[in-house]
Amino acid sequence: MKVFVEKDYTSLSKKGAKIIEEVVRNKPDCVLGLATGSTPLGIYEELIRLHRLGGGIGLDFSKVTTFNLDEYCGLKKTDPQSYHFYMWENFFRHVNLKPENTFIPNANSEDASQECVRYEEAIEVRGGLDLQLLGLGRNGHIGFNEPDEHFVLDTHVVELSADTIKANSRFFSSEAQVPRYAMTMGIGSIMGAKKILLVVSGEGKEEVVRKILQERVVTPRIPASILHLHPDVTMLLDYKIASALGGLDLCE
Ligand code: GLP
Repeated sequence: MKVFVEKDYTSLSKKGAKIIEEVVRNKPDCVLGLATGSTPLGIYEELIRLHRLGGGIGLDFSKVTTFNLDEYCGLKKTDPQSYHFYMWENFFRHVNLKPENTFIPNANSEDASQECVRYEEAIEVRGGLDLQLLGLGRNGHIGFNEPDEHFVLDTHVVELSADTIKANSRFFSSEAQVPRYAMTMGIGSIMGAKKILLVVSGEGKEEVVRKILQERVVTPRIPASILHLHPDVTMLLDYKIASALGGLDLCE
């Protein structure tokens, strides 16, 4: 795992977008795995800026396919808290991605297990993920793969942990409004990506980052720890978190 400590959120976002830009420029028909949450917002903003560059150098998404990591169960696509809404609002509608090339799990499907299989197959049919963008939950979750006794490999429905419900309640009017279940790509789906970009920013993540980087134990109790076993992971870490840990230097 390559770790870059970025001086602030802007530089973390610019660097993250640059890594994604490189993948898109090198392979215009690439397949990107996308994430939600507060952390990737700056990356999406920067990608939109790159897309809008004039003089024929704007970043072209017309051949790109995207697969989102997860979606809440029980929210309509039009619900402002749904990840469908988030993606359209914060990214898709601002760039030239073709709607038919954007995939988000249908967490309200009548047959959830069939939808999970369909999602895995769709990723495979498109040739697999060239890059997976990940945020990090305060409890170490990636996508909605929550701390557990074991890793779940494929796309599945998960019961959200009390910690995640609490952390994500900031987007809802109350904790009671946060859905209790979600559909998420599994650890195998994520680890199948050729390249992984893990961006870490936000409150209350120092302890989990310390465990991942300093204890270096791979355990389903900290789902992101599995990323130590992937050959091409870049972690972009906010300086605020890194400085709380000590021993991590600022990168250019
Ligand atoms: C949600 C998402 C995750 C995301 C996490 C962290 O639970 N399912 O994919 O990484 O939140 O979010 P934030 O970036 O807002 O801290």
